[in-house]
Amino acid sequence: MSVVAVYPGTFDPITNGHSDLVERAAKLFDHLIVAVAGYPSASKQPTFTLSERVGLCGEVLSHLPNVEVHPFENLLAEFVNRCEAQVILRGLRAVSDFEHEFQLASMNRQLVPGVETMFLTPAEQYAYISSSLVREVAALGGDVSRFVHPRVQAALAERLRR
Ligand code: COA
Repeated sequence: MSVVAVYPGTFDPITNGHSDLVERAAKLFDHLIVAVAGYPSASKQPTFTLSERVGLCGEVLSHLPNVEVHPFENLLAEFVNRCEAQVILRGLRAVSDFEHEFQLASMNRQLVPGVETMFLTPAEQYAYISSSLVREVAALGGDVSRFVHPRVQAALAERLRR
C-alpha cells in the first residue's frame, strides 16, 4: 500500500525551513501533498494570494517528483479525506510549537480518526525561521537570501519593498 501524506500550512511565503521539511518527508512517504491553506478569517491578511502561494511552492519544490502542491480552502480533515491520505505531516521547530500542534493533532484525530499526525523537525539552522519574520526583514530591505528560494526572494522584493 502506498502511503500518502499531507503537509498543510499557509506558506506565506514558503521558506527554506518548509522546503527542508518537505525534502525530508519526500524520502519517507510514497506521495506527499503540500496543502496550501486559504486564510480563514479577515484578521490575518495574506501577503500573497492563495494562487500565488501555491505557485511559489510549486516552483520551489519542482525538483521533487513525488511532491504535489494543492490549495485547500475549507477543513483540513475534509481535504485529507479527499486525498485518501493516511498521514498529516507537521513541523516542530521548538518546544513553543508543541502546544498548538498538540491541539491541532488532537482535533484532527477527532475529525479524521484513521489519519495519524506525524512530526518532523527541520534542520537546526532553520529552527528560528518563520514566514512573518522573513516578510518583516524583506519589507525593511534586509537580505533574506539565506532563508528563502531566489524566486521567493524576488517575489517578496516586488511585493514588499517601499
Ligand atoms: N520552517 C519555517 N517556518 C515554519 C515551519 C518550518 N518548517 N513550520 C512552520 N513554520 C511557520 C510558518 O512559516 C508560520 O509562520 P508565521 O506565523 O510567521 O507566518 C508559522 O510557523 C505557522 O505555520 P502554518 O503552518 O502556516 O500556520 P498554522 O499553524 O496557523 O497552520 C493550518 C495551521 C493551516 C494547518 C490550520 O490552520 C488548518 O488546518 N487550517 C484549515 C482549517 C481547519 O481545518 N481548521 C481546523 C484545524 S483542526
